Amino acid sequence: MKRNHSNIKKAMKYLDNNNCIGLPTETVYGLAANAYSRKAVSNIFKLKHRPKKNPLIVHYYSLRMLNKDCKTNKNFFKLYKKFCPGPITFILKLKKKSKICNNVTNNKKTLAVRFPFHPIARNLLKNLNYPLAAPSANISTKISAVSKNDVIDEFGKKIKYILDGGRSKIGLESTIVNLIDKPQILRLGGIETAKINQVLKTKLKLKKKNNKIIVPGQSKVHYSPGIPIRLNVLKPRANEAFIMIKKKNINNKNCYYLTKNKNLKEAAKNLYRILRMIKNKKFKYIAVEKIPNKGFGIAINDRLIRASKF
Ligand code: TXA
Ligand code: MG
Repeated sequence: MKRNHSNIKKAMKYLDNNNCIGLPTETVYGLAANAYSRKAVSNIFKLKHRPKKNPLIVHYYSLRMLNKDCKTNKNFFKLYKKFCPGPITFILKLKKKSKICNNVTNNKKTLAVRFPFHPIARNLLKNLNYPLAAPSANISTKISAVSKNDVIDEFGKKIKYILDGGRSKIGLESTIVNLIDKPQILRLGGIETAKINQVLKTKLKLKKKNNKIIVPGQSKVHYSPGIPIRLNVLKPRANEAFIMIKKKNINNKNCYYLTKNKNLKEAAKNLYRILRMIKNKKFKYIAVEKIPNKGFGIAINDRLIRASKF
């Protein structure tokens, strides 16, 4: 252990005792617990008010650890080689002898797995002899957390320990790719679909409906600040917080910039931070400027549409 030696040790102690901790990752913060412990996993569901049928993502340090629990395949290796560790999640088949608790997957035979890039997450995972189940560290359907303070904002004293890893660099959740049969995108996120298509030499689409498993695409309300949101707005009303993506010559205290020059990667990074800021300033209404539906703009629009179904 090099970096953050004492904090990592503290986190390990909490985890060994079946507690949940706040885990910094490059996408968003996770609410992490031992994926091999039924009790630890059930604590995640309780704390997050998450429906038990919504399965969790499990975070691994290495292929060696993953191989104990999951079957891999060609497409997995292609994507792993290119993007891992990083903001991508794979749906794989569970092995029969896997130690993953069945409350992680709601008894399903598939598992969502991810190899986070954040050095603190990696440092922690490297020192544990179990992988970490970790959904985003927010109350179910609310805005994801991108800093230690956001996690406190969501859970207050109910969470015993949070590792501070600064602000999440990507600021949007990982892209989820189902690799069970023909590859499918289940959630847009930190890696653009075009990049995945390049590697798999195919043209994947976002899967809209899934009757068996709840995926984020199914749940109408998600990532929500709990405030009505109007999209594609040219001119905001006086009582609206206005979310913008290019510099305008207006001096209005209600204006919030995701980016000032249409940099969509920067906009994605700032989205949850700004939604939370607006919520905490007690605005009653939000308006959002039109965001181009390309690159990270597609993932941003996906989140905003879901946040607006309040
Ligand atoms: O970036 C991320 O992915 C963050 C960080 C903390 O790693 N985690 C995250 O977890 O976003 P969560 O639980 O908020 O979103 C994961 C989604 C869930 O909505 C769940 O429905 C879907 O992944 N999922 C989990 N297991 C699945 C499975 N076996 N098949 C299909 N979808 C699955
Ligand atoms: Mg989430």
